[in-house]
Amino acid sequence: MCGIVGYIGAQQAAPILLDGLSKLEYRGYDSAGVCVFSDTGFQVAKTKGRLAALCEMTENGTTITGTLGIGHTRWATHGAPSNENSHPHLSTNGKICVVHNGIIENYLVLKEFLLAHGKTFFSDTDTEVAANLLEYYYEQEGDLRAAACRAVQDLSGSYALGILCTDYPDSMLAIKKDSPLIFGFGKGENFIASDVPAILRYTREVVYLNDGDMVEFTANSVSFFDAQGNALHKTPEHITWEMSAAEKGGYPHFMMKEIHEQPKALRDTISPRIKDGRVVLNELTLSPDYLRGVRRIYIVACGSAYYVGCLGKYILEKTCRIPVEPILASEFRYSEPVLGDDTLVIIISQSGETADTLAALREANTLGARTLAIVNVVGSAISKAAHDVIYTWAGPEIAVATTKAYSTQLSVLYLIALYMGDILGTLSNEEYNTMLDALIRLPDRLSEILTEENLASIKAMADECKDHHDVFFIGRNLDSATCLEGSLKLKEIAYVHSEAYAAGELKHGPISLIENNTLVIAVAGVSTLFEKTMSNVKEVKARGAKVLGLTTVNFKEEIEKTVDRCLLVPQTHPLLQPSLNVVPLQIFSYYVALVRGCDVDKPRNLAKSVTVE
Ligand code: AGP
Repeated sequence: MCGIVGYIGAQQAAPILLDGLSKLEYRGYDSAGVCVFSDTGFQVAKTKGRLAALCEMTENGTTITGTLGIGHTRWATHGAPSNENSHPHLSTNGKICVVHNGIIENYLVLKEFLLAHGKTFFSDTDTEVAANLLEYYYEQEGDLRAAACRAVQDLSGSYALGILCTDYPDSMLAIKKDSPLIFGFGKGENFIASDVPAILRYTREVVYLNDGDMVEFTANSVSFFDAQGNALHKTPEHITWEMSAAEKGGYPHFMMKEIHEQPKALRDTISPRIKDGRVVLNELTLSPDYLRGVRRIYIVACGSAYYVGCLGKYILEKTCRIPVEPILASEFRYSEPVLGDDTLVIIISQSGETADTLAALREANTLGARTLAIVNVVGSAISKAAHDVIYTWAGPEIAVATTKAYSTQLSVLYLIALYMGDILGTLSNEEYNTMLDALIRLPDRLSEILTEENLASIKAMADECKDHHDVFFIGRNLDSATCLEGSLKLKEIAYVHSEAYAAGELKHGPISLIENNTLVIAVAGVSTLFEKTMSNVKEVKARGAKVLGLTTVNFKEEIEKTVDRCLLVPQTHPLLQPSLNVVPLQIFSYYVALVRGCDVDKPRNLAKSVTVE
């Protein structure tokens, strides 16, 4: 999970590469580097630390001249973040230079082989193996593309590689397997990148490369090949979204911007799929007959996407009366799941490239299940590997902590619930219409939470709570799944240890951790269970906890009797309530992170796309 970018044209490459990398830093940000090819050969500048350090080192790219180059922003896998391990990496004779996103799984075997053949290594990375392997085959073939075709036969794992060779002063080669790579068509200039925002300033015409694809290009020409070197024809896709979607737009952080984009993201995801008072999922190839035969649903995902799946269990079981099992992708793939053609596996992923999720999806396909992916990134590996895909139209999500992607994933589950409940006859007309009506109004309800007044009061609570080291999130039923997400948010961006517990489970162990002034955040959004949750709140209050309660406006007076502070959200349909309940928790974590001086958008040790197992 690194970001790569490449440029050939008439302009100076380094500033363009640095600009592109600044849009890819969400993919990794522990070191950065560029290599520009000029009359004097390769000029490599790389350093550990944020991209800002590289910009300073190269005076924003102005100290490096040349119109062809590659750049990289890193999330360390093999070898600590250091200058030596930063990309780009040169081959032994310095003729080949590469940037790499992914993992070469068999790098140790290859390294031994290459060492035995006289190659030398200066870093701990797996990437250097790719550079030397290319050199090894280039010495035999005398042709870079032929060398790449041979090298990919030896490489196991995932890679998007940008490759320069001193014998090719006007061209670049790039190859891809299981890591994203796009080619961008410019006028008198061409690009490669891990993601669209890196090159959107320069072009809207792109090709999403498939696994095994290779692209060879100059400033004015481009040729695509398969892994065997056979020519391929590719038609560019036009990117319709605006650059502003990938910029902060006046907000101090992407996370706050993305929190505010949730109403629009929900509207964009829901509205096109409702026609004449019915949910229409034209993108699905699943027939009504198939859906009537589904006996079990798995929801497979990682992190927040998995927590959406935990909500999905309650939502789909209630609306479709089919057993639903949410399962972590990293567990699913090694659990020998019992699957067949009556099993629907729903895969959820913002990035569409999470390694564990992709592997689980492939496993489900192999075992004969039908797979339906809910994905945000168009053309991503998961969207291509699943039998069916429903896109969330959240737009680019840059902050590492997901907010709008989470919300739109949940909204897609509501659409599926209505769609399937209708086909299966498990929802009455009245239930269908009430839920659909609430779903259409959901973006407006969510907007009501995002007022200045609410933000200020959540910020005040965050300021008050900033020094708590251990926080418990408790809730029942749907609220217990919302707690998982609230707790993850606090952990990942504010570095506060927190646990999410089903409220009724506290007394079976963790209540022994409650002591004077322990912070407990109680989510009581399931109205039928409000009293039960309040009983659990009383139990922790009796042991000295400070309780922040979250519920719907109609329970204001009730909750104020029990908790120390309360957060209120509008009331909606019971199954849709989690969509609103999560929002104050996102904002709370944001402000706790801010007051604790954390880097909100780029939390330590994390990256947006987790393309390693
Ligand atoms: C969420 O805030 C996280 N950063 C993380 O848990 C994320 O949801 C998870 O890594 C899954 O990513 P995906 O949706 O891109 O597959």
